[in-house]
Amino acid sequence: MNLIPWVLLGLISWTSAQGELPASEDKPNEAKLMSKITVGNAPIEQRNYQVAPSPYNLPEQSEPYNIAYEYHNYDQMTKFLRATTSRYPSLTALYSIGKSVQGRDLWVMVVSASPYEHMIGKPDVKYVANMHGNEAVSRELMLHLIHHLVTNYHTDPYIRWLMDNTRIHIMPSMNPDGFEVAKEGACDGGQGRYNARGFDLNRNFPDYFKQNNKRTQPETEAVKEWVSKIQFVLSGSLHGGALVASYPFDNTPNSLFQSYASSPSLTPDDDVFKHLALTYSTNHAKMSRGVACRSSQQGFRRGITNGAEWYPLTGGMQDFNYVWYGCMEVTLEVSCCKYPPANELPKYWEDNRMSLIKFLAEAHRGVHGFVMDENGNPVEKASLKIKTRDVGFQSTKYGEFWRILMPGVYKLEVYADGYVPREVDVMVVEQHPTLVNVTLHAAKPGQSFKRPVTSPPITMLSPEAAPSSNVDFSFPQD
Ligand SMILES: *[C@@H]1O[C@H](CO)[C@@H](O)[C@H](O)[C@H]1NC(C)=O
Ligand SMILES: [Zn+2]
Repeated sequence: MNLIPWVLLGLISWTSAQGELPASEDKPNEAKLMSKITVGNAPIEQRNYQVAPSPYNLPEQSEPYNIAYEYHNYDQMTKFLRATTSRYPSLTALYSIGKSVQGRDLWVMVVSASPYEHMIGKPDVKYVANMHGNEAVSRELMLHLIHHLVTNYHTDPYIRWLMDNTRIHIMPSMNPDGFEVAKEGACDGGQGRYNARGFDLNRNFPDYFKQNNKRTQPETEAVKEWVSKIQFVLSGSLHGGALVASYPFDNTPNSLFQSYASSPSLTPDDDVFKHLALTYSTNHAKMSRGVACRSSQQGFRRGITNGAEWYPLTGGMQDFNYVWYGCMEVTLEVSCCKYPPANELPKYWEDNRMSLIKFLAEAHRGVHGFVMDENGNPVEKASLKIKTRDVGFQSTKYGEFWRILMPGVYKLEVYADGYVPREVDVMVVEQHPTLVNVTLHAAKPGQSFKRPVTSPPITMLSPEAAPSSNVDFSFPQD
């Protein structure tokens, strides 16, 4: 690949760390308004997302806790999620990140040994399903995954390890309005794909390569706010209509032939993304065989593809996660038929079960650690990057950082205002993540260091490019 994208990526990744506030947008949603509430000059950070209130009718403990192989509309899904939290209060927490156009909650269920609090030093990961409302298999897979995790925690050592060491955030539906108008049995077509205002949510995010003029939607705003507040290390975006794991970039700087281009648009972390996509496809019952869904189409070799090589798109969610927040997101296309008859759901769950679990465990690969000052205090919002991989990431308010890397030797670059920048050698192995603590020394008076790249391509840097602070959500216990 040519060098231009890497250079530009370097610009955005370092400049996005400067912490400007996002410009106000035309229609701030509720969460956004809440996030601006301040006392004195200090923003209140930990009250955005409330845990869902307890259900009125707590299921009897003797009542079986099941998830049927049926499609769950919004009310049924909500009921299942609430039943889960009341049955497994120490393994789950339910919160809403906002509302859809028609006022449905955008539910997220945390499944973890620490559902209410971020575990310092341990990664948060997420799945987002059903952003295209008619791609219905993904939504049911999420409900089955939740059920599977909580019911196997005490008996399956692998699941127990995963939940003890990872906070798993699962959003079964990013487009609940679309789902309500989609039709069971419709394998193709667009009814229910869009949100209630007719917007394709996977074309609605800020784009790194192109100006995205689509009017931002409440579902998109809610997700943007969410990912700006929790440092997700790894993410899967679940779709249907194909059987493939598709990795960034989805868009390409080669704009001339955009809609036909089938040349790859590769990230500097291409080895990692290929590995993540292969983790999904090879643990899937058939994805890695690469059989085409339709005889008119070509299959995908080993069941994976670069997004732009398949077809380029502007405003997608996976590029946004990666470029803006350093979260590695892969798009998981889990069914040739978008909304197959419910009696096929057991097969889809079996086909995807192992993939869904193994993919999340990949957050425990690479390098992680803490950035601290000489006194051992955490340094928040330090800008980090792996040398030669010019997409950056940041430390959290606890000074934590994570980066998924394949085994090898790397140089980790760490920069923070007021400190002497550092470059640290890191060896990554296959068996376990490498822990690296980086101590930064205060710059002497008059000593100043430049961020590695200084002049941003202004047109590329929308005000939204500035991530807000990493906060962990404290959930009131009730
Ligand atoms: C790294 O820093 C963390 C947080 O201060 C601490 O808990 C941990 O023991 C340190 N580990 C090493 C190997 O220095
Ligand atoms: Zn889709």
